[in-house]
Order: sequence, then C-alpha cells, then structure tokens
Amino acid sequence: MSSESSAHTGNTVNASAEAHLQTITVQLPTDKELVLKMIPMPADCNANGDIFGGWVMAQVDTAGSVIPARYVDGRMATVAVNQFIFKQPVKVGDILSFFSSVTRIGTTSITVQVEVYAERFRAQGHYIKVTEASLTYVAIDDFGKPRKITKR
Ligand SMILES: CC(C)(COP(=O)(O)OP(=O)(O)OC[C@H]1O[C@@H](n2cnc3c(N)ncnc32)[C@H](O)[C@@H]1OP(=O)(O)O)[C@@H](O)C(=O)NCCC(=O)NCCS
Repeated sequence: MSSESSAHTGNTVNASAEAHLQTITVQLPTDKELVLKMIPMPADCNANGDIFGGWVMAQVDTAGSVIPARYVDGRMATVAVNQFIFKQPVKVGDILSFFSSVTRIGTTSITVQVEVYAERFRAQGHYIKVTEASLTYVAIDDFGKPRKITKR
C-alpha cells in the first residue's frame, strides 16, 4: 500500500471515529456534584481489553458514598445497588468523571444517583456517559445496626 493510500485510509477511519464520537457525546450534568475523577490503568482490564465491570462498580460505590458521608456523621454501609447500567465500555486512559446527587433521604438510609462520564484518550473535552447507577447507604452505629440520620 502506498503512503498516500495509507494516509487516506487513516483519514477515513479518523473521520468515522469522529462522527461516531459526535453521536454519543453529551453535556455534563448541572444538577449533580463532581465527587471523583479517575483514570483506569491496564491492570484494570478484563479479557476483552476493556475495563473490568467490577472495577467500575467499586469506583461508583466509593463515589456514591461521598455525599452520604456528609449526612451520616459517622459509620455507614452500602445496603443496596438498586440499579447499575453499563451504557458504554470504559477504556484504558479514559478520564472518568463521577457525578452524584441525592434522590432520597430516609430514616436511616440515603439513596444517590451516580453518573459516570468518560473523556476518551486523545478525545478529551468530549464526554460520553458510560455508567449510571443508584445506590443506598445506611448510617450504622458501633454495633453495625442502623441509626437515624439527623441532618437534612
Ligand atoms: C446495612 C445493614 C446494617 C442494614 O440492616 P437492616 O437490618 O437490613 O436494616 P433495615 O431493614 O432496618 O433497613 C435500614 C435501611 O436500609 C434500607 N434498606 C434495607 N434493605 C434495602 C434494600 N434492599 N434496598 C434499598 N434500601 C434498603 C431500609 O429501607 C432502611 O432505610 P430507611 O430507614 O431510610 O427507611 C445490614 O443490612 C448490613 O450490615 N448489611 C451489610 C452491609 C455491607 O457489608 N455492605 C458492603 C460493604 S460497605
């Protein structure tokens, strides 16, 4: 293949990738707080070469706990992952931004919605929603039993 046709092929691929990126790019949420940023590494991959879902879930659990931590004033535990959707794969080198907001404050529990946005390697500034989840955390006492959340 000549260098000219090779370059042409490269441009076609780049144009196609750019077009695809434009179709899935979204705006960052304005009604949620940025609670975590992470860049996954090669050691976090699954057998497909994408980032292992369990790694993403662990980061979401950590990110989701940030706002509840302000309310519970002490120990807490994750009681439920109510929903977890992997909308797009996460890739090595993505800059991940985790946004969160409270959806419910109960007697002893607090539920948050977490959304994760990726800026692909070499496409920074374009945001793709890769994950969304709902998690519930419970304030617990020294014996691991639920206790009342007094802050509102
Ligand atoms: C969290 C834990 C203390 C709750 O104890 P429990 O006896 O189930 O408590 P309760 O039934 O009184 O429920 C406590 C709160 O959790 C909520 N909850 C319980 N099960 C839930 C579920 N499946 N989904 C959503 N919320 C749930 C209840 O609605 C209640 O909230 P509210 O008081 O705001 O209405 C206990 O389940 C536990 O220790 N789980 C293990 C936690 C853990 O190891 N997490 C992983 C590592 S952090």
